[in-house]
Amino acid sequence: MDHRILSLVTCALLTCNTAVGVEVSDFDSIKLYTLKNQNEMVVDITNYGATITSIRVPDRAGNIADVALGYRSVESYINAIDRPYFGSVVGRYGNRIAKGSFILDNNKYTLATNDGQNHLHGGKMGFDKVVWKAEVLEDSVKFSYLARDGEEGYPGNLALSVTYSLTDDNEIVMHYEATTDKPTVVNVTNHTYFNLSGEGATTINDHVLHINASKFTPVDAGLIPTGELRDVAETPFDFRTPKEIGRDLDAHDTQLKYGLGYDHNWVLDRIDDAVELAAMLYEPNSGRVLEVLTTEPALQFYGGNFLDGRLVGKSGKAYQHRSGLCLETQHSPDSPNRPEWPSTVLRPGEKYNTTTVYRFGVK
Ligand code: GLA
Repeated sequence: MDHRILSLVTCALLTCNTAVGVEVSDFDSIKLYTLKNQNEMVVDITNYGATITSIRVPDRAGNIADVALGYRSVESYINAIDRPYFGSVVGRYGNRIAKGSFILDNNKYTLATNDGQNHLHGGKMGFDKVVWKAEVLEDSVKFSYLARDGEEGYPGNLALSVTYSLTDDNEIVMHYEATTDKPTVVNVTNHTYFNLSGEGATTINDHVLHINASKFTPVDAGLIPTGELRDVAETPFDFRTPKEIGRDLDAHDTQLKYGLGYDHNWVLDRIDDAVELAAMLYEPNSGRVLEVLTTEPALQFYGGNFLDGRLVGKSGKAYQHRSGLCLETQHSPDSPNRPEWPSTVLRPGEKYNTTTVYRFGVK
């Protein structure tokens, strides 16, 4: 049986020559969904982990490249060494919870620990490791997953969905919704690694990054926030004016040492609850631009510090140190243990409702 998911086999729902639409490829319960728009932008998403496996976008000369890191086969996603979470939805709590525990309504919950003594990205079988139910809508695809009460230690049956749409403005719109039958915590995000030169290129240190944030959350050696909200001013963490990522990477800075580079959470300068610009990424040679917009209060910028050349990507090239970066919209790590920070608690009768947009362009 052919387990490759990166080539289309059928065009089950819309005809292949439809400029805007969704195509579906079948591999048992794991399928690949392809979104296309009128500008030759093509996005592949699988219901395994609700994972974006490829994003093909033009550069300023119109040349198409795949700017998302990922694997060639389903097996690689399932058996991924070191678990990089390429393109997946991570949760029930994306990012870390200290010592894998938190107290909610006087009850202590103990979660799976999978990052030293801490909990990371939902635990051993997080949302990146499960098969989601897929539903094809007009020009979007909706993935749903019911996380059971007790799964990875979390309370409450959580009915979660993420809907991916592709607009003719070259935007991938991700809309997350969830309800629960017991008080719980939720913090889901997408974990796509970008390299705007094209996946397989060496480093993202030449990319120019803007983060719309005046403060970040310093961490301890285990990457758990200390509780301080620190001004980015006069630190390597100041991306309020667009800056080459590599510029301050070698600064003598304890935070950069702990993160092995950038692996931190920025508290966004927000106006209100609308979808607002969180970050802008620009790669000067190709001219490709990515803007990240969100309703979320914070952003994890992870600079691909754990990539070390051992993972071989979909085009056969090894992913080297810092050859991809993540811009993960979310609430700050360890918020369940930080009652003074924006809450991640979801209660019965409430609706979790967040939107994040990856908007591509050139300049
Ligand atoms: C995140 C974390 C990183 C690392 C990667 C996965 O984004 O912030 O520390 O765990 O996921 O390698």
